[in-house]
Amino acid sequence: MKKIGILTGGGDAPGLNAVIRAAVKTAINQYGCEIVGIRNGYEGFLQEGGVVPLDIRAVRGILPLGGTILGAANRGNPFAREVIRDGEAVVEDVSDEVVERINYLGLDALIVVGGDGTLKIGMELYDKGVPIIGVPKTIDNDVNGTEITFGFDTALNIAMEAIDRLHTTAESHHRVMVLELMGRDAGFIALHAGVAGGADVILIPEIPFQFEKVAEKVIERIESGRLFSIIAVSEGASPKGGQQVFREKGDEISAPRLGGIGHVVGEYVEECCGTEARVTTLGHIQRGGTPTAFDRFLATRYGASAVRLAAKGGYGRMVSCQNLKIVDVLMDEVLREPKRVDIEGDAVLTARGLGISFGD
Ligand code: F6P
Repeated sequence: MKKIGILTGGGDAPGLNAVIRAAVKTAINQYGCEIVGIRNGYEGFLQEGGVVPLDIRAVRGILPLGGTILGAANRGNPFAREVIRDGEAVVEDVSDEVVERINYLGLDALIVVGGDGTLKIGMELYDKGVPIIGVPKTIDNDVNGTEITFGFDTALNIAMEAIDRLHTTAESHHRVMVLELMGRDAGFIALHAGVAGGADVILIPEIPFQFEKVAEKVIERIESGRLFSIIAVSEGASPKGGQQVFREKGDEISAPRLGGIGHVVGEYVEECCGTEARVTTLGHIQRGGTPTAFDRFLATRYGASAVRLAAKGGYGRMVSCQNLKIVDVLMDEVLREPKRVDIEGDAVLTARGLGISFGD
């Protein structure tokens, strides 16, 4: 193994820099191998100055930093890229150009760090002969084949702290505080933070809710003398027989953006329960800032093991965490289905046992 590349795709997540640092150090120290960084996800292969050499100096001091020193791009799919032709924006498959650039660079492996979108693009490039190694990243924790993605623990801690802080106002003002959390179509952040923060109602995409049941829980608490409630709602949650709420519709290039269900729930509660409700949307704060110790450690192990996997020629595979050990799995298999909350699993059962309502 003489030369490898690394890129970070999709939304940023705490721990990306720890992966880059570990990969660079392992490649250089353990294998004497050259490593280059691709800027802005796959876009870097198509941009002037998009491929940069990485040495030990380049990764000095980045371990505690959020974001990614390489930049990321949500709109960087080479199989469907917006280009201007005769003054008009059209969508084109430019993946052959990317493959050519990778071959020209002489990469023995390309480590792609990303969520399901970035990893799926990696798989398509693998099918075109690119030696891909995957590293699962996302605050949503929705990638199969791994118990945990890095970034999730940091997001969870931020969400839990938000619930703790909302408790103060909820209790003092006898209000219902609704907290809308990220996660796309997976409810891991709302579920885990809701349990860890002691929410009274948790609404997740995997369990369609009924407005009346949410109100029932709030009223039951008021009648028993607890005049406040905390509702943690996942951005992808939807009422039984109803639709998810979107802030922006997607298109060929961009994924749709969820957002707004917190306000829908808050308005309903205020109207039906005769109590004040306030809504907080935590948004990108969940993705920002320094990674937790857990995420730094996990991300570092992922970065180092991705390089070891590349050295073994384990292309088309993704490093993953199972039973707290780092293993590797076939990307093709794990990417077929996204990971979702097991509604019969212990987290949901635990929450139900504690009296938390899922609005069902
Ligand atoms: O996948 C990570 C995530 O933060 C989701 O939880 C959220 O729905 C989405 O990205 C937001 O994307 P953007 O940063 O493009 O608005």
